[in-house]
Amino acid sequence: MLLTDSAAGHSKSVSGKIPHLPHLGVGIGFREPFRADLFLHQDKIDFLEITADHYFDAHSKKLEELDLLKQHFPLIPHGLNLSLGSAEGIDEIYLEKFAGLVEKLNPAWFSDHLCFTKSNGVNIGHLAPVPYTNEAIKIFVRNISRVKDKIKIPFILENITYNVRFPSSEMSEAEFITKILRETDCGLLLDITNLYINSTNFGIDWREILDELPLENVVQLHFAGLHKHDNRLIDAHANKTNDEIWEVFREVCRRTNVKGAILERDENFPPFAEILDEIATAKEIIDFAETRPKLTKLLCR
Ligand SMILES: [Fe+2]
Repeated sequence: MLLTDSAAGHSKSVSGKIPHLPHLGVGIGFREPFRADLFLHQDKIDFLEITADHYFDAHSKKLEELDLLKQHFPLIPHGLNLSLGSAEGIDEIYLEKFAGLVEKLNPAWFSDHLCFTKSNGVNIGHLAPVPYTNEAIKIFVRNISRVKDKIKIPFILENITYNVRFPSSEMSEAEFITKILRETDCGLLLDITNLYINSTNFGIDWREILDELPLENVVQLHFAGLHKHDNRLIDAHANKTNDEIWEVFREVCRRTNVKGAILERDENFPPFAEILDEIATAKEIIDFAETRPKLTKLLCR
């Protein structure tokens, strides 16, 4: 029985572009409270993810900030509001702004979430899940195709957390994500903390979810610490990355190549040395995994 599989299995179903994307390394989602620390320690931070929305219709100071960041770091724009699951389609004005930012930055890839944030033109203010149905897949595929027509660089899609499971769902989250990626030829921005949160809150083994996902589509990871509230895990981005999340990180890197990983921290900011420690740990995991053959699903369980 074939036990290991290095690059061979990766070229079968994945977009031709993904294996050729650059390795950006490990970085952090840009937040203003640690802006000065980023410049002081730029040799330890490989790239930054910026929230695209913060630079749409931005005032001159914000645009100067963007230029300064661009001079010192590779930047990846991460959107919040393409609302790829909205039945009414893509907001063309928002898409135009996103396309303008991408043109300005010329990033290796850009990203948004597998969710909806707008309904009938009204912004609902959070990343909302949809029922995992074939009808919803059609909506995502149509909207993602529109984005890809407009912005001609690799587009990667992030898995979100959810608090309820819809009775109308026709498949698992992993199957839903897989079908969308296969039909749109997009990469996966695998948020491993979101994956762990969903698996724990709904009693599913996270390794089984990894078995189901098309890990050959992974381009980038998000990682962050867990927060427990009323016996449920939530994605607060307010804590140090936990051992459980590092275990998921190692397992993903054992199974597939990762082009980049971003630490997400939005609240409860620690001394920057702790952030740097987490980035260094992530780099060690990725560097070690790159020296080893990738494991097939047969070996992973
Ligand atoms: Fe994330």
